Amino acid sequence: MSQEGSRSDRLIERRKGDHVEICANEDLSQDYVYWDDIKLVHNPLPEVDLDEVDTAITLFGRRLSAPLIISAMTGGYGKAEEINRNLASVAEKFGVGMGVGSQRAALENPEVARTYSVIKDYEIPLRIGNLGMPQLIKQGEGDPLGIEHGKAAMEMVDAHILAVHMNYLQEIVQPEGDTKSKGGLKALERFAAALPVLAKETGAGIPREAALRLKKAKVKGLDVGGLGGTSFAAVEYYRAKSAGDHARVNIGKTFWDWGIPTPVAVVVANVGLPLVATGGIRSGLDVARAVTIGANSAGMAGRLLPAALEGKEALEHEMRVLIDELKAAMFLVGAKDMKELAASKAIVTGRSKEWLDQLTE
Ligand SMILES: Cc1cc2nc3c(=O)[nH]c(=O)nc-3n(C[C@H](O)[C@H](O)[C@H](O)COP(=O)(O)O)c2cc1C
Repeated sequence: MSQEGSRSDRLIERRKGDHVEICANEDLSQDYVYWDDIKLVHNPLPEVDLDEVDTAITLFGRRLSAPLIISAMTGGYGKAEEINRNLASVAEKFGVGMGVGSQRAALENPEVARTYSVIKDYEIPLRIGNLGMPQLIKQGEGDPLGIEHGKAAMEMVDAHILAVHMNYLQEIVQPEGDTKSKGGLKALERFAAALPVLAKETGAGIPREAALRLKKAKVKGLDVGGLGGTSFAAVEYYRAKSAGDHARVNIGKTFWDWGIPTPVAVVVANVGLPLVATGGIRSGLDVARAVTIGANSAGMAGRLLPAALEGKEALEHEMRVLIDELKAAMFLVGAKDMKELAASKAIVTGRSKEWLDQLTE
C-alpha cells in the first residue's frame, strides 16, 4: 500500500475511534425533545392481553420480531469488532435489524474487513451495509466508489440492503470533509438500479421534495435520520475542540441544532416507501410514536452505544426494556399488533406541530 494510502487509513481509523468515544462520553443533546411532541391516545378498554401484544413486522421482505434497527455506528478500527459483535448478538437474540458503520475503511484496507464481517456470525434477520453518498462522487484525487464497491460492501456483511448515507452536515463541519455533492443523486440512481438501496440521512432529516426525488431514483426505502438525537455537528465540534481548530469549533456550535426534527421528517417524507425513523429515539414509547405517525420501524444508535461498550449483558437489558416499553404503549392504546398501532391516532403538539403546519400548508 502507498504511504498516502496508509496515512488516509490511519486518519479514518482515528476518526472512527473519536466518534465512538465522543458519542459515548460527551453531551450531544438538543435543547428540545421533539419526540415528546407526539402524544398517543390512551385507551381504558384495550381489549387485548399484554402478553398477546405482537410486535413483529416485515421490512424489506424480512421478518423482524420488533420494528427496531440498531443503526449504523462503527467498523474499521480495532475496538469496532467487539462493539459490532455485541450489537450483533443482541440483534440476533431479539430478532431486530442491524446496520454497520461506513464500510469505506474496509474497501480501502481489507485488513479491517473483519471488524464489520463479524456480524455474519449471527442470525440477524435484517443486515444493512453502509457507504457514504459523498464517496459515490469524485471528491479529490481518488476515484469515486462504483457498483462493484457497493456489491463488495454488501458481501462483506451478507447484507440484505445497502444504506447509502447522506451526511453533508457532518462533512461541512469536519476538517477533512467531502463537500462536493453535484451528481450525487445520479450516482445513487445507478446504485439503486443495481443493488437494493436504503437512502439514509444521519441526523439532519429528509424533506418531502428530497424523499420524492429519492423515490424516483428507485431506492427501496428511506431512513429519515432527523434532528433530535446524535448531532454530527456536535460530534465534530468536540473533535475540532480537542484539535484546537477554532473555526470548526464555531461552525459545529452554530449548526448544533441544524436539521428537520425526526418526527416531522417521518410525516413529510412519507412518500409510499418503507420508512425508518432514526434520530433521538430513546425509548419503546418513542418507537410506538414513530410507528403511529407513519414509520415502519425505528432506528437507534447513540442511546445504545454506552451499553454496547459495556458488554452484551448491558445491551440485552437495554433492548428488553425497549421492547417492554413498546409493548406497554401498544397495550395502553389497545393495539394488538403493528397494523393496529399504525392505525391508531397520534396528536402532534409543540414545535413539531409548528414545523408541520408550515411545511405542509
Ligand atoms: C458513533 C456513531 C457512528 C456513526 N457512524 C455512522 C456511519 O458510519 N454511517 C451512517 O450511516 N450513520 C452513522 N451514524 C449515525 C447513526 O446511524 C444514526 O443515524 C444517528 O446517530 C441518529 O440516531 P441516534 O439519535 O439514535 O444516535 C453513527 C452514529 C454514531 C453514534
